[in-house]
Amino acid sequence: YNSRLVGLTVNSLFLLETQFLRVLDCFDRVVKYLWIHVKILINFTAWFQVGLFSGVTLIVGTMIGSGIFVSAGSLLANAGSPGLCLVLWGVCGVYSLLGNLNNLKLNSNYIITGEYIYFLEAFGPTHKFFGPILAFIFAWVTVFLINPSSVAILSLSFAKYFSSPILTAVNFCPDDYLTYVLDRLLATICAITFVNCYSVKGATHVQNIFTVGKLMAIAIIIGGGLYYLGLGYTENLEIGFEGSASSFGQIATAFYGGLWAYSGWNNLNFITEELKNPYRNLPLAIIIALPLTTICYVLINVSYLTVLTPQQIISSDVVAVDWGDAVLGSASFLIPLGVVISVIGTTNGTLFAAGRISHVVGREGQSPDFLSYIHFERKTPIAPILLTSLLGILMIIPGDIASLIDFFGFAISIFYCAAMVALIVMRFTKKDEHRPIKVPIIIPVIVMVVSAILVVAPIAAAPQVQYFYVLLFISAGLIFYIPFVYYKKSLPGISFITIFFQKLFQIVPTSHDFE
Ligand code: ARG
Repeated sequence: YNSRLVGLTVNSLFLLETQFLRVLDCFDRVVKYLWIHVKILINFTAWFQVGLFSGVTLIVGTMIGSGIFVSAGSLLANAGSPGLCLVLWGVCGVYSLLGNLNNLKLNSNYIITGEYIYFLEAFGPTHKFFGPILAFIFAWVTVFLINPSSVAILSLSFAKYFSSPILTAVNFCPDDYLTYVLDRLLATICAITFVNCYSVKGATHVQNIFTVGKLMAIAIIIGGGLYYLGLGYTENLEIGFEGSASSFGQIATAFYGGLWAYSGWNNLNFITEELKNPYRNLPLAIIIALPLTTICYVLINVSYLTVLTPQQIISSDVVAVDWGDAVLGSASFLIPLGVVISVIGTTNGTLFAAGRISHVVGREGQSPDFLSYIHFERKTPIAPILLTSLLGILMIIPGDIASLIDFFGFAISIFYCAAMVALIVMRFTKKDEHRPIKVPIIIPVIVMVVSAILVVAPIAAAPQVQYFYVLLFISAGLIFYIPFVYYKKSLPGISFITIFFQKLFQIVPTSHDFE
């Protein structure tokens, strides 16, 4: 009896083992199958990374972030009518395209340096003082105001879209104070997380995945909007231009929202090395990507207007969520998910660019050296990235999205204007320089005039404290420049600080560019 039992057990053990081996085999096959597909996907994205297509997705992916999801309401409020609002979204796109085409010379000539070197060189040989000082002020404002405010706006947008579906799901309506605290908390977490995100090698692959996420949200909104349009939901669009704003100040303020949504194109400066035939592909990528983004932005606004009333759009913090709730029913979670992914991708790209700019400025001897140092192993510029995130967090605390966007728009308009002045000057001082696209000189002149109006009109119409901060900061930059940069006096305690940060972050000077 016993031996039979043993026999049986051995037998069933044997059976069990065969089953187990089969399962293992099956598992092994599944893993191999998946791995092959992962490899194909990786190669696919690698292939994407060099061609024209990748240039276009990169520009679109960096530009589309939070703007179209958070500034639609303020743009509509300032425009006063759906008609003018749509026109302004389109005009902002054209304005950005024209500005970018002018800037192309610098993109392809100075691969990772952007406007900074452009300013440095425009007035260079003749004006040894003016060029470097303009470059310095640009860097100063970019490093301390523009980049951190970008991180703050993105983080706050993340918080708004992250918390909204959760709060709705648990049916919890926090009071104003709680909302304020919750937003700050989530935004801070977002800003901190991205510092870590950034340092992961292969962030470009991650970036591609984020781009897919944001394109998904956009496709859903545009598709849904067109569907509703087909069903005849045109009531809000029929309002047309009724009630349009007529003051320059209001229109310029509306423009700031657009400038934010279209900003970020210049991050492409940083991938020209990876781009096949940049002289051909870079201009083409811009010429394709900007109109594509413009069409997307206009269609998204049409979509908002088919489903939501202008009042709903203006009063909503999370207009895309409201759109999703009205259209998608139980699948509405897809929208906040897509927006959050979109914002993560853009924050990643923004911090990446922030690091590069500081690196170049440091190398030129216009900022403390340690800002240009990179991690000895990862080769990433940790110090400027942390600085940007930290300043971003400080701006999150008192600021709200709308005033931060005004702040950003005002600061960026000053440099748009200055860049056009530099470009016009260069047309005369560096006549025979090769440019991939030679635009007629009237275009930079138009962009310069529009930018100048964008700077002056909002101040004249309704001066805000944030405009004053920007001007104050520029003046502070000038005061700082003379002793510490022009006369090269060293900052008190700077060598101690440099060594401290070197040890803390394990960063070293480099003569090579980081990866
Ligand atoms: N256009 C992006 C958005 O709508 C913001 C990009 C910010 N990054 C930058 N480098 N300016 O969220």
